[in-house]
Amino acid sequence: MTYAITQTCCNDATCVAVCPVNCIHPTPDEPDFGRTEMLYIDPKSCIDCGACADACPVDAIFPADSLAVGQEPYAALNAAYYEQRGPRSAPEDGPTFHAWGAPSFARSLPSDFGPIRVAVVGTGPAGMYAAEDLLLHTTAEVTLVDRLPVAGGLVRYGVAPDHPATKRIGDAFARFHTHPRVRMYLGVDVGTDVTAEELAAHHDAVVYAVGAATDRRLGIPGEDRTASVSATAFVAWYNAHPEVAPDAIDLSGAERVVVVGTGNVALDVARILVSDPGTLAATDIADHALAALRASAVREVVLLARRGPEDVSCTAPELLALGRLPGVRVVVDDHDPRVWAAVEAAAAHEKAALLGGAVRERVDWSERPGTERRIVFRFHSAPEEILDGAVRVTGEGESAEIPAGLVLRAVGYRGLPVAGLPFDEATGTVPHENGRVEGRPGTYVVGWIKRGPSGGIGANRTCAAETVGTLLADAVDGVLPVPAGGARAFDRLARGRARTVVDARGLAAIERAERARGEESGRPRVKLGTLPDLVAAARGRRRLLR
Ligand code: F3S
Repeated sequence: MTYAITQTCCNDATCVAVCPVNCIHPTPDEPDFGRTEMLYIDPKSCIDCGACADACPVDAIFPADSLAVGQEPYAALNAAYYEQRGPRSAPEDGPTFHAWGAPSFARSLPSDFGPIRVAVVGTGPAGMYAAEDLLLHTTAEVTLVDRLPVAGGLVRYGVAPDHPATKRIGDAFARFHTHPRVRMYLGVDVGTDVTAEELAAHHDAVVYAVGAATDRRLGIPGEDRTASVSATAFVAWYNAHPEVAPDAIDLSGAERVVVVGTGNVALDVARILVSDPGTLAATDIADHALAALRASAVREVVLLARRGPEDVSCTAPELLALGRLPGVRVVVDDHDPRVWAAVEAAAAHEKAALLGGAVRERVDWSERPGTERRIVFRFHSAPEEILDGAVRVTGEGESAEIPAGLVLRAVGYRGLPVAGLPFDEATGTVPHENGRVEGRPGTYVVGWIKRGPSGGIGANRTCAAETVGTLLADAVDGVLPVPAGGARAFDRLARGRARTVVDARGLAAIERAERARGEESGRPRVKLGTLPDLVAAARGRRRLLR
């Protein structure tokens, strides 16, 4: 018997560290790491010890012979990774990994080195991996800063509510919220409440983990129409982000929604739009989104792809999951002979092959969506213009006008400039060298603002290790600027400037309040969706809570 890694793999490689026979790959010191969609267990080497399943932070690992319904393909998916790369014992045959990676040890400070104080701006995965690294391997004191009065970043506001296992990574990060060397300043905006210079002046180093806060534009006419919304805003809406109004999305008149893009975010929004609201009611989806989805007129979601199925940009696990959505038919618009040819030509382990189970249909866009709920892939089609109630698409040799009540743009995230730091407009990132910001001694970046908006949650672990390694090397080399103020001075500054500062106790109070609301309605939690409600809960006040 062997174990297999399944859909929710977060790629953070916690399992790699505990495997006694090194049969989980790619490991962080192998060239493929960060480039594969998930990690894979070699069925020929696994000795069935179960250590990886115990360690996995998102419960993605199970015995291959008892996978849940719908998860069965993962046994073959794990094995295929090794079959494609040849035998491990014969590296000269061309495998891209090796049996035993060179040992790598986290960088630490010399034992006689005094504690340094590091501010981490952003409490999403990148910031928390950086904080974890500092707390576990040094005596550093960490100041966690977030502009929102609640921690979590994209774990709280980006992961789809129907992926509760993925959200469990947040529990691993939460262990550090109450660490004795951590101080939390939630609700403090760097650039508004305190300047980047002030933050730097009170710490030995500052690590920015602010992510990619906006979406990429399509650059076509009609993009700013009311019915054209970024998928980032839609995701924030159904995740109860306090900066997106509950009525920001109107689904009451949209029978068809066009989603531009085929990445994981595009699939997330498509899934949520056609899922049975009764199923979503068991998740932590925003109350207002659940109500809107219950009253929704949406029966069809069209995913527009500029290229063909061989270039679909979502991961295989997400594509696989789409085919298992209860009551939802997956259709491939057969408007272009290249589409089905690519599906049929794909090897079994390739993503395009996963569309082979979809219905092949020449869609007549002049007809209204039928009564069944469905997701339609339309390949080789780029949006040309967003019209009033339709999207004009163009492809090689064929244009079409697809009637749609709502258009969601899901073509990627983009970083925003960080006050006081250099910024590369072309990539939407902060220029850096191994995490050290160019021309700013003592200032570092990690996550999407460092490397651009790609890679899942786990990719941030190695990204953070590089940044923290650079920071500690700079500390040892004595090149960190000497801070003018200490922890107390920063506390006075932050509390004097920000309207409300939520600390670890306040965060725990929010957690309790949301879980209590969830218990009342049989849900894991009901998120507080406004800044006043979050702040009231943090202060232990219940009067604002419904
Ligand atoms: Fe196999 Fe996981 Fe143990 S891969 S060897 S069951 S750590």
